[in-house]
Amino acid sequence: MASKGPETQPPVDEVAAVALDRVTKTYAAERLELRALAGATLRISDGEFVAVMGPSGSGKSTLLNLIAGLDVPTSGTIHVRGQCTSSMSDDAATAFRRQFIGFIYQRFNFLPDLTVEENVGLPLLLNGHRGVEVERRVTDVLDQLELGTRRDHLPSEVSGGELQRAAIARALVATPAVLLADEPTGNLDSAAGERVLLDMRRTVDEMGRTVILVTHDPKAAAYADRIERLLDGRFEAG
Ligand SMILES: Nc1ncnc2c1ncn2[C@@H]1O[C@H](COP(=O)(O)OP(=O)(O)OP(=O)(O)O)[C@@H](O)[C@H]1O
Ligand SMILES: [Mg+2]
Repeated sequence: MASKGPETQPPVDEVAAVALDRVTKTYAAERLELRALAGATLRISDGEFVAVMGPSGSGKSTLLNLIAGLDVPTSGTIHVRGQCTSSMSDDAATAFRRQFIGFIYQRFNFLPDLTVEENVGLPLLLNGHRGVEVERRVTDVLDQLELGTRRDHLPSEVSGGELQRAAIARALVATPAVLLADEPTGNLDSAAGERVLLDMRRTVDEMGRTVILVTHDPKAAAYADRIERLLDGRFEAG
């Protein structure tokens, strides 16, 4: 928050990885106002794996965008690792996202003129990594997701499942503290989906990372520590 300054970090045990307080998000559309979130409150601890479920249009993608600081809430506050992402400037939010957040977008958001390898390496370059290190980390993550042979393809030249895995590779390459995953297994067959979910589980169990997984699939949600359900822009109690 502005009064504290960005360097002032509360002690780790007081910091929820992600904290939302009475968050609303209203989109103005033509004449009507559309309430995507309507007072969502949520606490997620460091090292927790939480699945968010809810019907189409219940506000799941909106929620992830707000947590990542890609958009600002209409009211309410959002803190991620002790920093208030809901009131950051665009530049501060971008820097914050590069440092702490991995995002598997529902619509992928690849740069169409860059190859799979270049797209996946971009978060590292933006974080100031160079040369051999980028090469090594990108190769590792592409191999892990069985994309080694597709590294020189453009996004338009790979299958839907391969693109999905490339999106996962890009989100994991910089080993972010908080991973936001919007339907990451939606385009994968069940074996590939299971591998991705196991990888996410492992980043939580072995590396203490925090994962928020949006999914429609109860089998995917079962990999999480708990399930939060969004209905009409709010989390259902218990
Ligand atoms: N930029 C926008 N402008 C206007 N309305 C929007 C915008 N983004 C989302 N909405 C609306 O807000 C509501 C919540 O959208 P959101 O994308 O968060 O839903 P979702 O839970 O992710 O759905 P799905 O499961 O289909 O991905 C929807 O009714 C949607 O049409
Ligand atoms: Mg969505």
